[in-house]
Amino acid sequence: MTNTTIPNTFGIAATADCYQVVSREEELPSMLANPTLVEKPCLILGGGSNMVFTRHFSGTIIHLENKGVRLMEAHDDDLLVEAAAGEVWDDFVRYCISQGWYGVENLVAIPGTVGAAPVQNVGAYGREAKDVIHSVRAYELGTGVKRVFGNDECRFGYRDSIFKHELKGRYVVGSVVFRLHRTFAPDIRYKALSDALLAAGITSPTPTQLADTIAEVRWSKLPRPEVTGSAGSFFKNPIVSAEHYERLKAEYPDMVAYPVADGYKLAAGWLIECAGWKGRSMGRCGVYEKQALVLVNRGGCTGADVIALADAITVDIQTRFGVTLEKEAIII
Ligand code: EPU
Repeated sequence: MTNTTIPNTFGIAATADCYQVVSREEELPSMLANPTLVEKPCLILGGGSNMVFTRHFSGTIIHLENKGVRLMEAHDDDLLVEAAAGEVWDDFVRYCISQGWYGVENLVAIPGTVGAAPVQNVGAYGREAKDVIHSVRAYELGTGVKRVFGNDECRFGYRDSIFKHELKGRYVVGSVVFRLHRTFAPDIRYKALSDALLAAGITSPTPTQLADTIAEVRWSKLPRPEVTGSAGSFFKNPIVSAEHYERLKAEYPDMVAYPVADGYKLAAGWLIECAGWKGRSMGRCGVYEKQALVLVNRGGCTGADVIALADAITVDIQTRFGVTLEKEAIII
């Protein structure tokens, strides 16, 4: 068993049978060509920003720390940029902006690594990683065989991809290729963002102004991982049928919801706040006071504390609104 501290932004003390760090992508084929790796569970870790450890991990944790960003192809309008899985996502976003490579500005300040971005299809402020991912280079566990997944093959969905379903635990992402643009086309449709720009008197933001404003909006609502432990949004925003939405809207006129293809996406943060959970704690886990979608470590929190609070919230939301909350965070 390893006593190494396993990185996770919730700040939960965690252990595993085996913990391996990858510092170069070239190590992956031989490291993964080990058939015993598939006999026991294997967990691929980036920044550990979306994970909650609830028990000792009886298997191998592979932690990606490979670095590097490089321009692969430059065309008149767009560019292909390759980034190593172990790059810190926010450093990558800021680097792209500094180079005049655009398309990832709205995803600034999201905790985690480049390698986690396609797995989770991270998203914020009206944009998702899938909008800019060209392809993903990954290696099969047990054989080390390389495979390149095009954007379509990743089957991206809301906080979702093939790497969380059919290929769950079967591939390790080594690097990601992004299709970025030379022209800056700010996407400021997200209301909290357009409001913040308006309040700052900015009508036509520069790329840096846009990224800085997004980071400010983000950190005004979400806990900074270096200060308060959390896994970001703990729940997904649930989708309900139009009929279910109409019923709830009649009862709760100020409920926040957005129309989507198959009904309405409800703001889970609003539901949890409306149910009176915002700022409350159970044991050493609490509901963040500025954003009810986030569960936080009140000091010495364990995985069991997180699950107890999450379950109590889920049962309450089901009872009050008839809505089933799904966890966005990955429970280990
Ligand atoms: N709201 C409340 N009370 C709350 C929280 C939210 O009433 O406690 C309302 C807000 O007023 C707003 C609406 O709910 O009208 C949506 O809130 P917000 O803009 O904060 O976004 P969210 O839906 O709660 C999602 C993502 C975040 C992402 C933001 C911004 C999910 C699960 N979460 O949160 O992602 O940063 O939008 O785009 O989709 C993450 O995944 O870790 C994450 C932080």
